Amino acid sequence: MRPVNIMKVNFLSRSANESFARVAVAAFIAQLDPTVDELADIKTSVSEAVTNCIVHAYKDGIGEIYITVKIYENDKVSVTVKDKGCGIENIERAMEPMYTSTQGGERAGLGFTVMQSFTDRLRVKSRLGFGTTVIMDKKLGKKSVARGT
Ligand SMILES: Nc1ncnc2c1ncn2[C@@H]1O[C@H](COP(=O)(O)OP(=O)(O)OP(=O)(O)O)[C@@H](O)[C@H]1O
Ligand SMILES: [Mg+2]
Repeated sequence: MRPVNIMKVNFLSRSANESFARVAVAAFIAQLDPTVDELADIKTSVSEAVTNCIVHAYKDGIGEIYITVKIYENDKVSVTVKDKGCGIENIERAMEPMYTSTQGGERAGLGFTVMQSFTDRLRVKSRLGFGTTVIMDKKLGKKSVARGT
């Protein structure tokens, strides 16, 4: 299916850009008139994905983060967060709740779990040494359909 609208933005993996990223995605999604909860879910998921690029993908330096948001008919949204960082050796293990590669108890290992529970579908593609792409799909407007409003 072809998207009805697309937004692309890219920026350096500086922590100041984490809030920029979620606000930029939220501003684009606003045209779909999302609920407060839907917007919060998407912003939180984007934050988790972008934070992972900053702290894991480019842990030894600064690189570029690429976000693409696509809007499809029926208020379906797809958010892609891509980096060209270190990559993930074992995606299955990385996606397990409470798995973290960071030592020292600073991280909970729950980022992917959050992305998974706040969106309808999470896909992770990665190549060691080449980078990682996270794709999150979410259909908006589910509640109003259920309520029949
Ligand atoms: N973009 C990425 N590039 C390289 N490795 C990643 C990337 N995203 C996630 N990972 C790996 O997957 C693991 C799990 O990620 P997840 O976000 O679930 O937990 P975390 O970042 O370690 O902790 P938390 O998100 O709770 O602070 C990370 O510890 C890291 O090893
Ligand atoms: Mg994380």
